[in-house]
Amino acid sequence: MKRLFTFIFLLAGGILSAQNPVLIPGTLSGTTFNLELQNGTYQFYDGINTTTMGVNGNILGPTLIMNKGDFVDITVNNQLADTTTIHWHGMHVSAVNDGGPHTTIAPGTVWNPQFTVLDKAGTYWYHPHLHTKTDMHVSLGIAGFIIVRDDEEAALDLPRTYGTDDFPLVIQTKDFDAQKQIVVPTNNDDVVMVNATIDPKLDVPAQVVRFRLLNGSSQRVFNVGLSDNRTFYQIGSDGGLLSEPAPLTRLQLAPGERAEILIDFTGMTGQQLQLMSYASEFPNGIYGATNPGMMQNMVLNGYNPNPLNGTDFNIIEFDVVAQTSNPVTSIPASLVEVTPYPEDSADITRNLTFSPSQMGPNQLNFPFLINGTSFDMDVINFSIPLNNTEVWSLTNQSAIAHPFHIHDVQFYVLDRNGNPPPVSEQGRKDVILVKPMETVRFITKFEDFANDPVPYMLHCHMLVHEDGGMMLQFEVVDNTIGIAKINDSENVFDVFPNPVTGDNFTVGIDNGKSITSYELFNITGKRILNENVNGQTSKIKVNITQLKVGLYFLKVYTEKNTYIKKVVIK
Ligand code: C2O
Ligand code: CU
Ligand code: CU
Repeated sequence: MKRLFTFIFLLAGGILSAQNPVLIPGTLSGTTFNLELQNGTYQFYDGINTTTMGVNGNILGPTLIMNKGDFVDITVNNQLADTTTIHWHGMHVSAVNDGGPHTTIAPGTVWNPQFTVLDKAGTYWYHPHLHTKTDMHVSLGIAGFIIVRDDEEAALDLPRTYGTDDFPLVIQTKDFDAQKQIVVPTNNDDVVMVNATIDPKLDVPAQVVRFRLLNGSSQRVFNVGLSDNRTFYQIGSDGGLLSEPAPLTRLQLAPGERAEILIDFTGMTGQQLQLMSYASEFPNGIYGATNPGMMQNMVLNGYNPNPLNGTDFNIIEFDVVAQTSNPVTSIPASLVEVTPYPEDSADITRNLTFSPSQMGPNQLNFPFLINGTSFDMDVINFSIPLNNTEVWSLTNQSAIAHPFHIHDVQFYVLDRNGNPPPVSEQGRKDVILVKPMETVRFITKFEDFANDPVPYMLHCHMLVHEDGGMMLQFEVVDNTIGIAKINDSENVFDVFPNPVTGDNFTVGIDNGKSITSYELFNITGKRILNENVNGQTSKIKVNITQLKVGLYFLKVYTEKNTYIKKVVIK
């Protein structure tokens, strides 16, 4: 009722007064992170318990603060009553550490990914990724920020005191039933919240303040702007800082996308400003516009009536308070060097098309297809050579916009229908909204990680579409040596014990084969040990007293072949 009142008040052009101080998630930092996934309840509405899922709490998850170059060790303890996965969205990690749908965590078990943070300073996030249940687990509340820091960013005069002049804001819309329980899936997501707070307000100091915006919604696209139409400055996109602040009055933010922005509140103490979504300005064919499809006769089940569609609404209210002691008061002139791969360095162009599975007025309802195909856990759709530079050309042949997302890499947008991307899309990206009848091309490079036992995902980040099969998978393969797939190596050689608990492990190979050499790589692909085995043998002992605990890859060479296997050192 409160929300409806707010909405009507806004339509009437009044200055609304928001009610609830926005939740600011706590932080975890260092190199060891313990996350516990839990069922819970949360009061989105005073006095009413809504069933939720959260990480280390009842809703959302702590913000993980990581430093580039650190080797991080994460424990994900699944105390939910359901299997799930946790994916580090936007981060460049090996596929086994990526938390895609293959890397399931059964209830009551623990997953322990370990990786070196290779990403640039920026705003990333984590969320469940179990096939067909991603929307359920995210909508019930599991989502958290990852803030990566690095020296380049630290050298700039930017606000970075978490919760003081640097705020993470995850914007979501959800659908509540009459008992105020979350409905999933739904096209009737008529409740806006920021950091799980409905009708939120935030005290901000009268200076330059940084916001890390994340669209954590299942489907809705936002058209972010400020209520007095003042200019704000985008400083970061999905995968790090832009080359210079982009002055904007509107910022389109699709599901999965992040944007770091600066707003200058200098001299505004005592005043209020609303962060809005100007969805009335959306063209048709975007989830959030008046018509979600290009044509008026195209109907999305449950989409109407939803008062958020095609109207301007409040996201959060900023209440300006006194300056802090060391305020940032100006917008930097430049940020970091952004160096897209030159288009002529591409080894290949890959074409992807998005299409509905049925034509006619019902074509906005999932399933949607990529290259005419629906997701199959057992099919690897693309095999990409390690170190390939590729142009991907995405063509949307459906009547609704899709936010395309790819794991493993950040990419640079080359063009939209042949036109250069707007400034806000000229940085590193991992999600890009492709509108109906549009072709978007990007360039990226598949580096560092190859030959993993599980593939990476590419998919639409509208979670309803993703769960409905608008997802494919790819592997990165190192063709420079004739490596058998890890799975194919299972029967060829043995490592025991594995996990390794003592000072050494033994490698034994099938009768009739002999080992000529071996190499041990850590999870970032760095070679840690290698030895040529003189005299050829079917059994070797590898001393590991110098090695850290973690996941390693052992490559074993025979005269004719190379085999690879995971080794866990405990
Ligand atoms: Cu944010 Cu494959 O996901
Ligand atoms: Cu992702
Ligand atoms: Cu989609």
